[in-house]
Amino acid sequence: MRTLVTGAGGQVGLDLIAALMAQGHEVHASDVRVRPDDAPDARDLPWHMLDVCDPEAVRNLVARVRPDRIFHLAAILSARGESMPDVTYQVNQGGLYNVLEAARLEGITQVMFTSTIAVFGPGLPPSVADDVPLQPTTMYGVTKASGEMLGAYYSRRFGIDFRAVRYPGLISAAVPGGGTSDYALFMYVDGVRRGRYTAFCRPDTTIPLMYMPDGLRALLELSNAPRSALTRCVYNVGAFSPTAARIADAVTAAIPDVKIDFDPDPIRQAILDSWPDLLIDDAARRDWNWRPEFDLESMTNDLVPRLRAMLTDDNETEQAPHV
Ligand SMILES: NC(=O)c1ccc[n+]([C@@H]2O[C@H](COP(=O)([O-])OP(=O)(O)OC[C@H]3O[C@@H](n4cnc5c(N)ncnc54)[C@H](O)[C@@H]3O)[C@@H](O)[C@H]2O)c1
Repeated sequence: MRTLVTGAGGQVGLDLIAALMAQGHEVHASDVRVRPDDAPDARDLPWHMLDVCDPEAVRNLVARVRPDRIFHLAAILSARGESMPDVTYQVNQGGLYNVLEAARLEGITQVMFTSTIAVFGPGLPPSVADDVPLQPTTMYGVTKASGEMLGAYYSRRFGIDFRAVRYPGLISAAVPGGGTSDYALFMYVDGVRRGRYTAFCRPDTTIPLMYMPDGLRALLELSNAPRSALTRCVYNVGAFSPTAARIADAVTAAIPDVKIDFDPDPIRQAILDSWPDLLIDDAARRDWNWRPEFDLESMTNDLVPRLRAMLTDDNETEQAPHV
């Protein structure tokens, strides 16, 4: 199957490409960024420079590649999005519109979309099901909530097979990419490379989190599910919901002498407090048999050695988080 990925150079994209290629799929990567050093080379992976805000460029690439499906990942995430809401609107809202239009005009059937817990807002119970009122407090959440609705509209009106997961905060062996859930990954990354980290949230902060291998599996399993089994376009997918203090305990148990403390940032704490503690994902479990495999402990056991290897290979390259 030929798959086009937008936003391929990001935290999800690079791991998704590796997973798709390992399954033998033909993959075309695209991003506004140049091919990262750790991406496979051009023989195995064509890398197309694409700004999803440019409708003509999106349509031309889709017409040229003629993918069987598009994984549309390109986006500006929550924390970075708050520092440039105008660009975030154009990339997240305009980018999805351009991809859906290109799919409609070029007869591409499936468009996969990655939504987020940022579509939820304050006032909800701690555990949220799929169909609750969406009252996002960030531009990122606003564009993702309307993206879900735009995709559902294209599904109803034009027959595009639009499918989306609502991801928790994702944790992987990567430097965080500007999400408000980054405190969790920074505990591991800075724990390994610096032996200390000051989290920008309170110790009792609780949001849904997921280890990347589960996140990739969710996206691929949803994409591969028979259409007839699906009862909706957008699915909550859950994994585990530890407090920030519990994550700190897991990190200090796995990495000796690490010091983690807390200095809440009011803006990011308010965003975190507006998100649910736990996602109810009964529909995903029922319709396409979704089951997470990793919890906090098994993720920690897998992640820490990977981060040690990655951060040693990088020679401790400093990368600014996109916050
Ligand atoms: N990482 C998470 O915790 C998380 C959680 C929920 C949902 N998601 C969603 O998953 C998707 C991937 O997230 P990620 O963590 O890989 O983000 P990331 O920030 O690491 O990667 C996003 C990619 O999009 C690219 N991009 C930005 N503007 C673009 C443009 N105009 N044209 C083309 N490409 C552009 C960036 O260059 C980057 O490579 C996003 O849609 C995000 O909203 C991620």
